[in-house]
Amino acid sequence: MVFSFPFGTQLGLLVLLLAHSVIAATVDRTSEQGEAAIVDPTQECTPYNYAPVTNQLPSFPQVWESASILPDDSAALAMWNSISANIPTNIAKKTQPPPSSYPSDDPDCWWTYGQCVTPKLSSLPPDIAAAPEPSTLGYGFDDGPNCSHNAFYDFLQSQNQKATFYFIGSNVADFPLEAQRALADGHEICALTTFASEDAFAELWYSMQMIKLAVGVTPTCWRPPYGDVDDRIRAIAHALGLQTIMWEYDTADASVDGMTITDQTVVNNYNDFIQKAGSGIFNLTGAILLTHELNNFTMSEAVAFYPQLKNVFQHLVPVGVSLNKTQPYVETNYSLPTFAQYISGTSRVSPNNTTPVVQSSTTPTSPSPSVSSTFSSSISYPTNTAIRRLSCGYHSLLLATFFVSLSFCLQALFID
Ligand SMILES: *[C@@H]1O[C@H](CO)[C@@H](O)[C@H](O)[C@H]1NC(C)=O
Ligand SMILES: *[C@@H]1O[C@H](CO)[C@@H](O)[C@H](O)[C@H]1NC(C)=O
Ligand SMILES: *[C@@H]1O[C@H](CO)[C@@H](O)[C@H](O)[C@H]1NC(C)=O
Ligand SMILES: *[C@@H]1O[C@H](CO)[C@@H](O)[C@H](O)[C@H]1NC(C)=O
Ligand SMILES: *[C@@H]1O[C@H](CO)[C@@H](O)[C@H](O)[C@H]1NC(C)=O
Ligand SMILES: *[C@@H]1O[C@H](CO)[C@@H](O)[C@H](O)[C@H]1NC(C)=O
Repeated sequence: MVFSFPFGTQLGLLVLLLAHSVIAATVDRTSEQGEAAIVDPTQECTPYNYAPVTNQLPSFPQVWESASILPDDSAALAMWNSISANIPTNIAKKTQPPPSSYPSDDPDCWWTYGQCVTPKLSSLPPDIAAAPEPSTLGYGFDDGPNCSHNAFYDFLQSQNQKATFYFIGSNVADFPLEAQRALADGHEICALTTFASEDAFAELWYSMQMIKLAVGVTPTCWRPPYGDVDDRIRAIAHALGLQTIMWEYDTADASVDGMTITDQTVVNNYNDFIQKAGSGIFNLTGAILLTHELNNFTMSEAVAFYPQLKNVFQHLVPVGVSLNKTQPYVETNYSLPTFAQYISGTSRVSPNNTTPVVQSSTTPTSPSPSVSSTFSSSISYPTNTAIRRLSCGYHSLLLATFFVSLSFCLQALFID
């Protein structure tokens, strides 16, 4: 007979099956908190369906493709019509690399050509390329949200450190709950377009709309892909209410190709920058360093160099905080602390009408008690190690049971 296991084994199997479904069910992939509690990077990066975003995808250009205004998008068309009169038409669209025919006086303030950040068009404000406060690093990361960013965001949370995240619209569309975590953790969100496409308006507009749809806030800052911006694109961004955020120092962390740029190049770039800061060159005006939330390497380097950056700068703050930009989004119900508030320990003041959260910047904090996933409420604040041990023990038990069952089966089939 096949099912002639001792009763105890059957009961044990049943209990394990139940336990399995309970633990599986506690991986919540429908909420920001649930997604933020996942510790396995592979699981974090497994696609999920978030209906509020996926249902709206038909009203967006194809993700990861160059954007243009969709024919029936009356809101986008109306916006373009309302701003187009202010967009210069005598500035040519750029191609890379800068052609030798481009005038050396850089009439278009083309950053790619000469790192220009002060527009030639007087109607445009200068780009932000450094944190204005003394000995201050405008701390931020490009190209997120990365699906497996929980370890990195957990680290920032443990340091009570906020940063500016420049999110790519298509990444936000793919991983909306990861994008929501940035806001929930008190970071600042800016937009970053994928390519300097023909249609910069559409790229910027749809990036802003995607962040608004997924996260609930509309950014008022952006960073151009590869820094490729000129006065025509600045004019479009400015008309959309976007402040252009550049940098003066680059780790090249996203450019590792194993040949001209290696892991060691990135380490050297970090070290050079830290040495410059240590020499006092940012004593009067701070800095912005280009770093990425692109992959495990870029995030690991960020974690590895954090203590040294903290050492050589008096303050590491989101760029918006270094600008006293207390209203970082179009929606007015969310604010950032002023620089003075941030450095005196108030790293978060939003949403409105709540008591400011004052935390010592040196004391690591536990995850927020408002975390409501089943996992967190059944096991209070498990550390990564605890979860790994639990999971390992549980799966080993499952595996052992499998082999015991298999041997019973084989016995039943071939011996009995
Ligand atoms: C920069 O500031 C630090 C700390 O206040 C000081 O020790 C150092 O001498 C300053 N360096 C320069 C070049 O001003
Ligand atoms: C995120 O980082 C992981 C680990 O480096 C990488 O495999 C993955 O492709 C990245 N995904 C996104 C969406 O950035
Ligand atoms: C990098 O990957 C390793 C292995 O998956 C993981 O333990 C670590 O937390 C990751 N680091 C970051 C900063 O994501
Ligand atoms: C931010 O505000 C403080 C005082 O509230 C001021 O000293 C500082 O200059 C301001 N910084 C900027 C960049 O506006
Ligand atoms: C939220 O606070 C900001 C800055 O303090 C203020 O400008 C805004 O009007 C407030 N919004 C609401 C809805 O109260
Ligand atoms: C702010 O208001 C928007 C609607 O304008 C809403 O969707 C969002 O949840 C609010 N956010 C906070 C933090 O109150």
